[in-house]
Amino acid sequence: MNAVIRSTGLWHPEETVSNDELVECFNAYVEKHNAENADAIERGVVEPLNASSTAFIEKASGIKSRYTVDKAGVLDVERMRPRVAPRPNEEISLMAEAGLAAAKQALDNAGRDPKDVDAVICSATSMQRTYPCIAIEIQQALGIEGFGYDMSVACSSGTFGMISAINMIKTGMAKSVLVVTPEITTPQLNFRDRDSHFIFGDVAVAALIEAEDVAGDEGWNILSTRMVTQYSNNIRSNFGFLNASEDPEPVFEERYFVQEGRKVFKEVCPMVIELILTELGKMKLSPADMKRMWLHQANINMNMMIAKKVYDRDFEPHEAPVVLDEFANIAGAGSLVAFHRHHDGFEAGDKGLICSFGAGYSAGTIFLEKR
Ligand code: COA
Repeated sequence: MNAVIRSTGLWHPEETVSNDELVECFNAYVEKHNAENADAIERGVVEPLNASSTAFIEKASGIKSRYTVDKAGVLDVERMRPRVAPRPNEEISLMAEAGLAAAKQALDNAGRDPKDVDAVICSATSMQRTYPCIAIEIQQALGIEGFGYDMSVACSSGTFGMISAINMIKTGMAKSVLVVTPEITTPQLNFRDRDSHFIFGDVAVAALIEAEDVAGDEGWNILSTRMVTQYSNNIRSNFGFLNASEDPEPVFEERYFVQEGRKVFKEVCPMVIELILTELGKMKLSPADMKRMWLHQANINMNMMIAKKVYDRDFEPHEAPVVLDEFANIAGAGSLVAFHRHHDGFEAGDKGLICSFGAGYSAGTIFLEKR
C-alpha cells in the first residue's frame, strides 16, 4: 500500500527575538564580564570576551529572528536562558502541548478526526522526559486508539519520523499516522556562546501520513525515501540521563549544543548534494524534473550552495524556499516547515523534494509528487 503525505500543521510561540535584541543582550553580558574581570584580563589570566554583531549573524547564517518559549528569560542578562515553569504531572507537558497544536492543525487541514488515526510518532532532537513518551501523551490528548512512540535523529528527526510512518503504511501496520516534531531548542542553546547564540528557534510541525486508499485524490505521493547516517562529532550535545551521576556533574555549557561550523559546512554540503543526485538518478529523473526543494533550514549559505549545485544553475527563491530568516535553525522541523509554508502552485504530477541534514551526521530525502 502506497503512502501519501495528506496534510501538515504548524505551531510556534508568540514571542520572537530579533538579532538586534539578541546581540544587545549578548554585548551587555560581554561588557559586564570584561568589567568584572578587568584585573584578571589585564594580567592575562582571563580571556576577554568579544562582542557579537547583527551584521555577522545575518551574513554568516541568514537568520533574522527566532521564536522562543520565553523571550524575557533569553534577554535577561543575568540569566540568558528561557524560563520554563515546571508543570504538575496532571498538566500537559510543554513538548506535547506544542506538538498537539501542530497535530490538530494537520488534522483540520485534512478534515480528519483523531479517530481516523492509528499511530503517533513524536520525532525530535531531544525529549523533555524519558517516559511516558511524548507521543503517547499527544495520543491521549487527541483520544487516538492504537500506539505512539518517540524517536530522535537530531536535524533529520522530522524526515526519519515521516519515513518510519510511510513504512508502517507500506507494511500494512497502519492506515493513518501522525508524525509530530516539536523542537523546543532554545532551552538547549548556550546564549553566552558567541559562535552559536543566534542559531536556534522553537517550533512544532506535524504531518499526517495516510494510505493512498483513504487519502482520496488529495496530498502528495511518495516517489522515494532514503536515510543516511555517518558518525561525526562536529555537531554534538552531551545532554543525557547520565549527567546527574557524573562527578563532577557537568555544567550547562558542557551538556548542550556545540559545533565546528566550518567543518559541518564543508562535510555536509557534498554529502547532501551526492545523496540528492544519486536518488534522482535511481528514479531516472533529473534536477530539472524537481519544481522545488524544501531543504533543512540551518544556514542560508548551505542551502544556496546545495540548491545551486543540484540544479546546476542559478535558481529562483521559490525553487528552494527559505524560512530560517523568520524561524532560525529549527532542527528536525526545518524542511517540513519550509514545505508547510511554501507548497502552493503545484499541479498534479509536479515533483519536489523534502530533504533534511545535520547532526549525526544524518540526512533524509523524501521525493514527492502532487496528486
Ligand atoms: N559576531 C561577530 N563575529 C563573530 C561571531 C559573532 N556572533 N561569531 C564568530 N564571529 C567571527 C569569528 O571570530 C571569526 O573571526 P576571525 O575570522 O577574525 O577569526 C569570524 O567571525 C568567522 O568565524 P566562524 O566561526 O568561522 O564563522 P563562520 O563564517 O564559519 O560562520 C556558522 C559560522 C556556524 C554560521 C557557519 O560555520 C555555518 O554556517 N556552519 C554550517 C553549520 C550549521 O549551521 N549547522 C547547524 C546544524 S545543521
